[in-house]
Amino acid sequence: MCGIVGYIGNRNSQEVLIEGLSKLEYRGYDSAGVAVFTDKGLEVKKAKGRLANLESQLQDSPLKGTIGIGHTRWATHGKPSDVNSHPHLDDTHKFSVVHNGIIENYATLKEELIGRGHVFVSQTDTEVISHLIAEEYKGNIVEAVQRAVRKMRGAYALGVLTEYEPDKLIAVRNASPLIIGVGEGENFIGSDIPALLNYTRDIYILNDGEMAVLTRDGVELLTLEGNFISRETFHVDWDLTTAEKAGFDHFMLKEIHEQPKAYRDTMSARISEDGKRVVLTPAEFGLSKEEIKDIHNIHIVACGTAYHAGLVGKSVIEKLARIPVETDVASEYRYRSPIITKHTLVIVVSQSGETADTLAALREAKKNGARVLAITNVVGSSVAREADFVITTWAGPEIAVASTKAYTTQLIGFYLFGLYLAETLETQTPEVIAETIAAMKALPEQVEAILTQSDDIKAIAEEIAKHEDLFFIGRGLDYAVSLEGSLKLKEISYIHSEAYASGELKHGTLALIEDNVPVIALATQEDLLEKTISNIQEVVARGGHIIGIGEDGNPDFSRHVNHLFTIPRTLSLLTPALAVVPLQLLAYYASIARGNDVDKPRNLAKSVTVE
Ligand code: F6R
Repeated sequence: MCGIVGYIGNRNSQEVLIEGLSKLEYRGYDSAGVAVFTDKGLEVKKAKGRLANLESQLQDSPLKGTIGIGHTRWATHGKPSDVNSHPHLDDTHKFSVVHNGIIENYATLKEELIGRGHVFVSQTDTEVISHLIAEEYKGNIVEAVQRAVRKMRGAYALGVLTEYEPDKLIAVRNASPLIIGVGEGENFIGSDIPALLNYTRDIYILNDGEMAVLTRDGVELLTLEGNFISRETFHVDWDLTTAEKAGFDHFMLKEIHEQPKAYRDTMSARISEDGKRVVLTPAEFGLSKEEIKDIHNIHIVACGTAYHAGLVGKSVIEKLARIPVETDVASEYRYRSPIITKHTLVIVVSQSGETADTLAALREAKKNGARVLAITNVVGSSVAREADFVITTWAGPEIAVASTKAYTTQLIGFYLFGLYLAETLETQTPEVIAETIAAMKALPEQVEAILTQSDDIKAIAEEIAKHEDLFFIGRGLDYAVSLEGSLKLKEISYIHSEAYASGELKHGTLALIEDNVPVIALATQEDLLEKTISNIQEVVARGGHIIGIGEDGNPDFSRHVNHLFTIPRTLSLLTPALAVVPLQLLAYYASIARGNDVDKPRNLAKSVTVE
């Protein structure tokens, strides 16, 4: 996803921009560029591919100046290329723009601008913005930007420079993330906090419909109508080193290993001292008992891995609180005319809190009178700010594109929430609630135990990496985890895999099973074990090679598989928080065996802020 950085101060801006962009690489991108005021005016350099390509251009011919904007692009309109990379200029080369988002009416605007004599060089929607601002400029850049954005429809975070007012950097936000960093004699813009953390910890978070005017000496926040906004800065107290690899070969492996801590952090303040109750603050879920009783149904809406967490969430809430739950992929939700009433609670799940489809679903839910609870990992994200209640997953920054600790802490979020509802609605006895909490508290150590067996998984992964197709099967919660295991494997190893509810295989897909096709069979649900074993037999009879994931000490299961990996015993409801860990490792080591870029898989972005 596109990343923006901007600088105004006295340092060599090229260095600040490259450093900031390198911290945004995790978002995924296909090209990068910078614009800097030099003694020749606004100069732009851009390059398709990795940031290193741009860096080597800048090493050969540096851009000397103390004000600039930079961008990493993830293509939406127009293929990845030098010319489509940002920053974009108008045709007088006096205005330069970086943009994250999509301008929905860009085609009409472009046609009108061409009609008035503007000449375009790229296929992007963004180039329209620099031309529009240039056309609206009557001696005041702030007013020109305000007039230009009034003509635009869509999502945009913008950084704007003009040669006519070389002591100003303009930032605008509408439906795409943008923050302002405040320094001494210098100020910054960025798509997120890590981009600025080397320089400042004092941040303004821009809201939709707001802009900022940065000079060396200060920052003014304004509405797009020009009214001044007074706001306190937000002081960031987490360290950049938490966002670095800490000795692991890849961010993904580091993040897999951070799960025990992430589980503890997400649970700690939310479990009463006696370990018998879940405690949520009013900001986390502030409905009264009467209001909770008035919830008739719950919709869980999310994308990708977060959607898979939602599938587990559905079972957890239905089992613990006996409220009917539907789980939807966010990009489908709005378009199926879901029945949302004021008795509906909508839970949106999003690591980044910026996923466009999830945000749109949240807005649809609110428009229809539902209350919205967000389970998200990013404080101050769009989802967090727009929801009525927020349960933050304290996973810490997740850099690898493939989500691991964000997913598992989303599961913890659902367990906590399900227990909170159960206790309020008295659908479970205090004993069951206390027993579940005790089992949850054991999860971090159990994950640590699984991680000590990583070498076993590595050996299996190296075998799997030789295949092009494989299957995951499971029943109940094991099926939900299979879907996540299959997605993880696909996205980083590029091995084709499908996840099936075990009982569904014989309704068609069994035709694909032949000698040595690997099938990863999850069997952690004790009450479903017999049935799962029957399905495994169907696969074995056709020559399939079974890799079983079961619970410790289950001899029944071990007799039916070619390889067995076991996880420590826990309550059936909690097994997803353990069973997914070997599947994460499997995907990781299969990706390594195939020589892939684990942390930045092809075609994917960390934060998907377009629909
Ligand atoms: C896969 C992955 C994605 C995200 C999805 C939603 O590993 O990370 O499937 O889960 O793009 O992103 P968030 O959770 O940021 O809304």
